[in-house]
Formats: sequence, structure tokens, C-alpha cells
Amino acid sequence: MSEEFDLMLTLPKGRILKEALPLLACAGIEPEAAFNDDRDRRLTFATNVEGLGIIRVRSFDVATFVAFGAAHLGIAGSDVLMEFDYPENYSPLDLGIGTCRMMVAEPADVSAEDDPSRWSHVSVATKYPEVTKRHFAARGVQAECIKLNGAMELAPKLGLASRIVDLVDTGRTLKENGLVEIEHIADVSSRLVVNRAALKTRPELLGGWVDRVRDAVNGG
Ligand code: PRP
Repeated sequence: MSEEFDLMLTLPKGRILKEALPLLACAGIEPEAAFNDDRDRRLTFATNVEGLGIIRVRSFDVATFVAFGAAHLGIAGSDVLMEFDYPENYSPLDLGIGTCRMMVAEPADVSAEDDPSRWSHVSVATKYPEVTKRHFAARGVQAECIKLNGAMELAPKLGLASRIVDLVDTGRTLKENGLVEIEHIADVSSRLVVNRAALKTRPELLGGWVDRVRDAVNGG
């Protein structure tokens, strides 16, 4: 934990951040100007709230920083919280941002002949091996997962795996790569995540921020 800040909030880089900032502003949290400067290489930033710092990390790492107490609060996609199911984390609030869906997809030409209810084994390229294995195990299918960090859509065409599990928003990425959605795993949105131990030891401070963010979600 940084000595400069008494309370640390972790935010994910990328898409979610753009939607999260107006919500945080509504809750009374505004990062220092340098936070919005892409050329700035710092990872820790001050805010308008004394003692409250922000760290900016990869979206997949938010849950880990909060679970290990490196940050008290964070904003993470429910996809990340499902994949890294830390008991130390408590995610009381759906922020209604970063909405998309987690889907199983396969090549359109395979799908025309395919009957997923007959599968006993499937190979899947995904960023979400844990969620994928759980999803298929629940219906008695063994999933062999190949972990990728992006560009999953290439996997079926190049023979890496026959299916993918990925996030779908507009559906454009799948379409442009000749893939179709065949199973819905989960609806995804971003959540406020809190370290349970921190909430227990400082309930007024952390509970206060949870309440302020909740009010912001409900229209300020
Ligand atoms: C996500 C996801 C898909 C794409 C889906 O990737 O992994 O590739 O968005 O969006 P669409 O349905 O609107 O086309 P993202 O752009 O977040 O980058 P990533 O590959 O780094 O995850």
C-alpha cells in the first residue's frame, strides 16, 4: 500500500474507464489531470479527495489488486470477477456500465451442421479458462482450454481450437471473422469491488464510498 494515500481505488485501463469516470465524478471523485494524459507513464495518481489515490491497471488485474489488499476498492468487469473468484472480494454494486455478453462461438459453416447438445469434449480458445471449464462441466462436457490474451477469433481458422469463449458487444468482431454465437454464458457488466477485510475494519469510510457510488448509479 502506498504511504501517500490512505485509501486506494483501482481502475481498469480501456473501455470501462471511459464510462467509469463520469460515474466517479458524480460520486465526488475526480483524478488529477495527469490521469487523462495517455503519455503519462505513472501508474498512481492523486484525486480531488484528500488521501484517496487511484491506480490504473489491466482490467484482468483489478480483482487481484483488491483481493490482496493492494487497493481497497476497484471497478472490475463481472467477467473478471467470475474468472478470478477471490473470496476476499465483495462486489455489492452493479454499475450498469461495460455491458456485453460472454458467449461460446464457432465458425458459421461448422454451426450449420453442429449439435452442441451432443458434445462430450470441446477445445476452446479463451481468456477465461476457469469460467469456460465450469460452464461446460455443468453440462457434462469436458473443455480443453487454450489460454489466449486476445485475438481469440483467429483460433478456429488457424486450427488452434474449434470454438472460442469471448466477450461480444456489437457482434462485429465475430461476424468479420466468420464466427457465430452458439451459447450464452453470462451477461457482463462492471461492478464496484471492495476488499472484505478493509470493509470490516473501516466500515464507515468504505461503506460511505459504496453509498456514494450507489447514489451516483441511481442518478446522483
Ligand atoms: C473485445 C472482445 C472482442 C470484441 C467484441 O475485445 O474480446 O474481441 O471486444 O466486441 P464487438 O462484439 O463489438 O465486436 P477488446 O476490443 O476489448 O480487446 P481485447 O482483445 O484486448 O480484449
